[in-house]
Amino acid sequence: MSLRMAPPLPLVFLLMTVGAFGTEWSVKYNQQEICALKGSTVFINGTYTHPEHLTVTETFCFIYPVQNVEPTDLSKDPDYLGRVKYLTDEQKHFSLKLSDVMERDDRQYYFRIRTNEEKEKWFGTPGVQLRVTELHVETPEEVTEGETADLTCKTTCSLTDPTFIWYKNGRPLTTKTIKNNQLHLQTVSSEDAGSYSCAVRGYQHLNSTAHNLRVRYPPKSISVSISPSGGIVEGSSVTLTCSSDANPHVKNYTWSKEGGTSPVGSGQNYSIISITADHTGLYYCEAQNEHGAQNGTVMVTVKSQSVSAVWIAVGGGSFLLLLITALICILWINRKKRNSDEQDYENADPNAKDDTYTALQPTARSSKDVYHTLAAVQSSSLDDTYTALDPQSSSPEYHTLAVSSTH
Ligand SMILES: *[C@@H]1O[C@H](CO)[C@@H](O)[C@H](O)[C@H]1NC(C)=O
Repeated sequence: MSLRMAPPLPLVFLLMTVGAFGTEWSVKYNQQEICALKGSTVFINGTYTHPEHLTVTETFCFIYPVQNVEPTDLSKDPDYLGRVKYLTDEQKHFSLKLSDVMERDDRQYYFRIRTNEEKEKWFGTPGVQLRVTELHVETPEEVTEGETADLTCKTTCSLTDPTFIWYKNGRPLTTKTIKNNQLHLQTVSSEDAGSYSCAVRGYQHLNSTAHNLRVRYPPKSISVSISPSGGIVEGSSVTLTCSSDANPHVKNYTWSKEGGTSPVGSGQNYSIISITADHTGLYYCEAQNEHGAQNGTVMVTVKSQSVSAVWIAVGGGSFLLLLITALICILWINRKKRNSDEQDYENADPNAKDDTYTALQPTARSSKDVYHTLAAVQSSSLDDTYTALDPQSSSPEYHTLAVSSTH
């Protein structure tokens, strides 16, 4: 040990503070540095002593120590207006209560003691350094399902015994592992994606801004739909649509048919134009992104057109056509008949049969099927129309009608 070494600073300080009467000046702050959340209320506490023969007249805190210049009481500083409160007691405790801490409050604070003797005054140096911090969530931008992730509630200074609280999408998280200022996600799943924020117990209203955690995962919740959704009839067009949840979005959709050797299509939609019974089968949709793939299936059943459905359709259509044609013809014939009766008496040959009459003869075997029909309609009530049709006719429509009429 060197004797030439200067005495350590606290010793110098002690020597200086010892007054002439064996009493001493002292200001002891409870902490050298205080870390406070922006918006919170902070106490700068300490104790002081003074030579016994003096009477303390004034105590306050201040921020600018300038030699030979009497410092300004913090409570009178416009920057601190309404935010400063002093609490002192007989035991020589002092307390500065500073509320609604702001970023600019981040500085050194000193305690000043003045007495009845102008020259006998004191302030405690060094003062107390106030640090102001906000909470800030630090997360990886993106994690892949199955990995672990740590979210950190960052502060720029060390808060005193903080208990961190985590929120996901605004709701407190209780099930996850919280250690110190970290939220540990052991095996990240897609459900962990969301907006995270943190707070310190007792200061929940001063929570951090939310930070988004994105989770990458392979396709899941795959579903395959068929459009139109009703029964698939031969000849119609059908579209299969594959939907799935994935992050990032599905890159490839591959369609295949059970039993097939190669894919039948790609893209989110797979369309079959003019479907046939051969298209019946189980279809697979494979959705894929860089993290994996998932399969969905759908059964496509093609109904060959129901026979009775065809009959009803064709029969109904034919009946309507027959009815209209018959009515037009009847009107036309009646008019023509009247015209010839009135105007062409001399030329009228009772045996002359114009084309129409020939055609309307029930016995006439005209190749125009419609005339057969007309004859039938004319010679009987409408209800008898079908029975009047020649079942031997080679037209498939008439087959149908003939069958229908027997129902
Ligand atoms: C400081 O003092 C005040 C009032 O005496 C008290 O309420 C507060 O808890 C104290 N704070 C600390 C950090 O000592």
